[in-house]
Amino acid sequence: MENNIKRERLKEFYFKIKDCQLCELYKSRTNFVFGSGNANSPVIFIGEAPGKNEDIQGKPFVGQAGRLLDELLFSIELERSEIFIANILKCRPPGNRDPRIEEINICKNHLFKQIEIIDPKLLCTMGKFSTQLIINTSAGITGLRGKIFMVNSRAVLPINHPAAALYTPSRMVVLREDFQKIKKVLGMKGKLTDGIENIEDLEVVDYSSSGSTLRAGGDESSISQNKDEQLGLF
Ligand code: URA
Repeated sequence: MENNIKRERLKEFYFKIKDCQLCELYKSRTNFVFGSGNANSPVIFIGEAPGKNEDIQGKPFVGQAGRLLDELLFSIELERSEIFIANILKCRPPGNRDPRIEEINICKNHLFKQIEIIDPKLLCTMGKFSTQLIINTSAGITGLRGKIFMVNSRAVLPINHPAAALYTPSRMVVLREDFQKIKKVLGMKGKLTDGIENIEDLEVVDYSSSGSTLRAGGDESSISQNKDEQLGLF
């Protein structure tokens, strides 16, 4: 798809869903957090749900975990403006509680549409929730992280959630290592669909998901933004 066509389609989709009321979370949100970045990104980073700062600013990963994400991107010579970041849930669960399965099963369709439009080479799932959703498993993140899963002909790399790594040094170590794998995958030519055996020294699991139905389950910012300012984000 031509570059600006993806951007236009993403914009159109944003307008379609920005006032979403499909679950109860709209009642307590400040902003609908669509996601941000480049509509032509070769990778989508997928988190869990907006937290307090994200709800206030209307952008994903703007708190402490976001600063770590920026630093990790920098370590592989990427910037936010080059990639796309989204969450499974577009509205903050009150008190930052875990997303509920019924919320995920509603909101996942927004995410799937974003994936369809951007059509990236790689999905990088951050933490348990997005990993379990995308590769359709109830297995824990510890056994999955760092491996490449081929799901419906697309590469998926689960990594630890940056927020979890902030408090657990051992998770931080492997998170940094896993970022180097992102660099490796993005550096490969083609879409990885021609033969996963071409991916040297990366552990690859051929895993065809039948439809991603979930089985398992900062500091305050004063910047407030009008919802339509999100258009500038992609
Ligand atoms: N954690 C997430 O999963 N997403 C955000 O946007 C922020 C923190």
